[in-house]
Amino acid sequence: MKDHIWHPCTQMKDHETFPLIKADRAEGIYIYDEQGKAYMDIISSWWCNLLGHGNPRIKEAVKKQMDKMEHVMFAGFTHEPAEQLCERLVKLLPEGLCKFFFVDNGSTSVEVAMKMSFQYHHQTGKREKQRFMTLANGYHGETLGVLSMGGMDFYAQMYRPLLLDGIHVPGPDCYRCPYGCHRDTCQAECIVSAEAAFEKHGHETTAFLFEPGFQGAAGMRIYSPIYMKKLRALCDAYDVNLIADEIAAGYGRTGKLFACEHAGITPDFMCLSKGLTGGFLPMALTVTTERIYQAFYADFNEKKAFVHSTTYSGNPMACAAALEVLNILKEENVLERTEAAYLNKRLTESLGSHKNVGEIRSIGLINAMELVDDKGAKAAFDSTKRVGYQVYQEAMKRGLLLRPMGDVPYFNPPLNITRAEIDKAVDICAESIKAVLGE
Ligand SMILES: Cc1ncc(COP(=O)(O)O)c(C=O)c1O
Repeated sequence: MKDHIWHPCTQMKDHETFPLIKADRAEGIYIYDEQGKAYMDIISSWWCNLLGHGNPRIKEAVKKQMDKMEHVMFAGFTHEPAEQLCERLVKLLPEGLCKFFFVDNGSTSVEVAMKMSFQYHHQTGKREKQRFMTLANGYHGETLGVLSMGGMDFYAQMYRPLLLDGIHVPGPDCYRCPYGCHRDTCQAECIVSAEAAFEKHGHETTAFLFEPGFQGAAGMRIYSPIYMKKLRALCDAYDVNLIADEIAAGYGRTGKLFACEHAGITPDFMCLSKGLTGGFLPMALTVTTERIYQAFYADFNEKKAFVHSTTYSGNPMACAAALEVLNILKEENVLERTEAAYLNKRLTESLGSHKNVGEIRSIGLINAMELVDDKGAKAAFDSTKRVGYQVYQEAMKRGLLLRPMGDVPYFNPPLNITRAEIDKAVDICAESIKAVLGE
């Protein structure tokens, strides 16, 4: 099995000593290997599995759609599942977001937003707007365009010579806040860096791209909604589009259906994926406003169309899955019934006072534990020690899929995780951290 496949985000040599797990089936919160060993998937398989593996309702909806029509090209054709999905989402999204562009992965949906924003300004006479601004430590995917916007060297460093000249603004760092504030009570004092960047580059900036609510791959860095409000105001002042990348944060992950709701803002573009189909099929959406759309709407020979295509755009089975996700969220009151407070309480009791757990931060069901070498000084471990990776290995031995980002193990479980599942996962998580770092 290890001979042919090159796995994502993996140093393949690691598998000489820590073999790949051959997944055989998955149900609810569990993934089972070929020997029948169960792994609790409390990271929702890279955050997409919103309602547990093999959710029977989504499975049924996809099967039904497959029997009718598996796929059809999305230029020249439309279809009921896509139309219904948009109609349903318009009612749920922040007011004003009403035009939907379908692609098949999150990175592409952000690239689409960037291209649309650039073209929008070009077609409305603001041709000097050719650059993008973003937050340091952001993550928006790994194709070259969005990699340029990502602020994390781990992913981008190697490719710097190939990347766009993005403007990276130091963003909120609430665990090590330079202003000595706390995210729950601050006024987003750190917005001053963005203010300075807008003053200098606002005239040449097309769009500001950010992750609302928290910066996921940076280690679930949660920050104040006030920061988002202030960003929206800056974008308005400098005629810069705001692109909210809700690929990780959307679909109830932060306790609200969309993270922008925490700040009551409407971005000019919103990117959705992951939870969108409950983890069943790859699909992503770039959603925008009538104002943006109108800048592209013209006679063919004016050459204003948005000429971007992906083969699997609007796949009907993915749309059927996405529709059923919305049905389940509504009919089963999923957001109202999450065990978010319980999970945070259990983790805090088990690990809050551990000498190497610097902070347990949470938003919705997301809980991240920043492991540090020196808690008082908030000093990180030497990255070559791979502390997070060791925790991952210990947890896997015990049947828990806890895949830290650097030295930040986290929970981002299905929204319907039960108390009993939380108890079991928290106990294994605590045991695994203590196995690596001591009591
Ligand atoms: C915030 C954010 N944006 C974009 C992406 C990229 O999505 P995809 O992996 O589907 O290309 C991710 C993936 O983790 C993400 O977390």
